[in-house]
Amino acid sequence: MSLLNVSNIGIRYGRLTAVRNVSFTMAEGEVLFITGPNGAGKSSLLRAIAGVTAPSGGRIDFADHDITGKVPEAIARLGLSMVPEGRDVFGSLSIEENLMVGTGMHAGENGWRARAMAELEAVYATFPILKERRHSQAGLLSGGQQQMLVIGRALMTYPRLIAIDEPSLGLAPNITDQVYERLIALQKERRLTLLIVEQSSTRAMMVGGRMMLMRGGEIVLDGDARALGKSEAIEAAYFGYGEQA
Ligand SMILES: Nc1ncnc2c1ncn2[C@@H]1O[C@H](COP(=O)(O)OP(=O)(O)O)[C@@H](O)[C@H]1O
Ligand SMILES: [Mg+2]
Repeated sequence: MSLLNVSNIGIRYGRLTAVRNVSFTMAEGEVLFITGPNGAGKSSLLRAIAGVTAPSGGRIDFADHDITGKVPEAIARLGLSMVPEGRDVFGSLSIEENLMVGTGMHAGENGWRARAMAELEAVYATFPILKERRHSQAGLLSGGQQQMLVIGRALMTYPRLIAIDEPSLGLAPNITDQVYERLIALQKERRLTLLIVEQSSTRAMMVGGRMMLMRGGEIVLDGDARALGKSEAIEAAYFGYGEQA
């Protein structure tokens, strides 16, 4: 049974079609990379899944609910949390305050405070640097630490699926390694479902799992990341060689 079911999604901005007829499903616990060149429609697709951008057509189901066109808060409540591109931390708030923002939508629910505290400790266990610096202003963190913070904030919403847009953007490779090491550990410990957008396929090949390659708003390849990475098809798909006009 699938956790996420994306069916014939289209996304338009005025006359521009950014995504056309995209369909795929994800099983619980699966890791799926969406890769592809700049402008392929990756971020648009992620935003539509999280409810930030309304699709022009198609349907999205998550955890047995039709979430098409629902507001982001409603989708997050069902357990789908998005980490947008660009690490938007609240710079003047402390790390701990940033993390607590993630639990806000559950405030008032029975036992939410105890649950939030337990979740906070779990996030600190995953990212000890966040605990060490929990009273520092988030704006003073390095890029890698801010990426850990936004992932931590997503975890605070008790997600079943986390969708992350370009976590490695602007990070040094060794810092990216650390972020991915934590992400994959989380995925294994909690059976988290991970939908990760990266422009390059390098990381998908390193981590393994499934990879889809988008180009011109469509999925042009879908398969095992390592197998695809070794094939000649990937370069052709990435750069559009051999395409019919
Ligand atoms: N808010 C927007 N308004 C108008 N056009 C947009 C908007 N966001 C993205 N686009 C366009 O949609 C296409 C896909 O963009 P995007 O989803 O950001 O691709 P990617 O994340 O793969 O780089 C591009 O042509 C981009 O210029
Ligand atoms: Mg993008």
